[in-house]
Amino acid sequence: YEHGEGPEGGFSFDGPMGKWDVAQLQRGYQVYKEVCAACHSLKFVAFRNLQQLGYTEAEVDAEAASWTVPGLDPNTGEPTTRPGEPTDYFPSPYPNAIAAAAANNNAIPPDLSLMTKARHDGSNYVYDLLVGYGEADPEKAAKLGFETPPGLYFNKHFPNVNIAMPQPLVLDGQVSYADGTEATIPQMAKDVAAFLTWTAEPSLVQRKQTGWFVLGFLLFATALAFLSYKQIWAGMK
Ligand code: HEM
Repeated sequence: YEHGEGPEGGFSFDGPMGKWDVAQLQRGYQVYKEVCAACHSLKFVAFRNLQQLGYTEAEVDAEAASWTVPGLDPNTGEPTTRPGEPTDYFPSPYPNAIAAAAANNNAIPPDLSLMTKARHDGSNYVYDLLVGYGEADPEKAAKLGFETPPGLYFNKHFPNVNIAMPQPLVLDGQVSYADGTEATIPQMAKDVAAFLTWTAEPSLVQRKQTGWFVLGFLLFATALAFLSYKQIWAGMK
């Protein structure tokens, strides 16, 4: 399998000065909602967390209500479904693990909330995985006697090479971005990888900024210590 390098030009949040690109996070959310959510939950993310992506309270209410979440019938106590509320978490599309496995050739689509932390270099990995589908090199495959079994899909960036997830981003323009950005496959992959980086570490940018503040404070404290040392010993020969 091949190590990828992530999207061309990297992510806006890379490096010590990294910042979220909020428009990108919104596009990534749209990809998650319209594509990935058919199979993957985000059980550690609540609808109300979307306010951090620049949505107003009213927009979050409406967004939450556009999702169906599991609930209990108030009269009978039987399991049922209801529209989401801001305090609910992004649900799994399957009622249970058995149904999830049955729908996916025995593989359970993992929760994506922490995926960019669970995998090495996760933001780049998620991008690479989404653009890594295709055919195995026929020459190499013949030499190794390698085949992709039925029900699995070849992906050069998946450590196992054959993955149970069918290629989720298959068409340019698969989503129609609200902000008019052209939805090429690499663009959608980058946007959803950015969104999943945010779900795994919403405080990433804050953490980096706090680091700079701490460095600034330590520099200032060092200067102060040096000046007071000078002051204390000023009269000494
Ligand atoms: C696994 C992302 C859409 C079914 C995964 C993994 C990631 C991921 C990061 C984990 C790979 C690993 O273990 O290293 C996404 C994203 C999607 C998406 C970002 C949307 C763009 C879908 C859809 C389906 C699906 C639509 C169902 C049709 C699965 C399954 C696995 C999986 C079954 C487990 C694969 C295995 O272990 O072989 N996905 N996924 N995914 N996904 Fe998706």
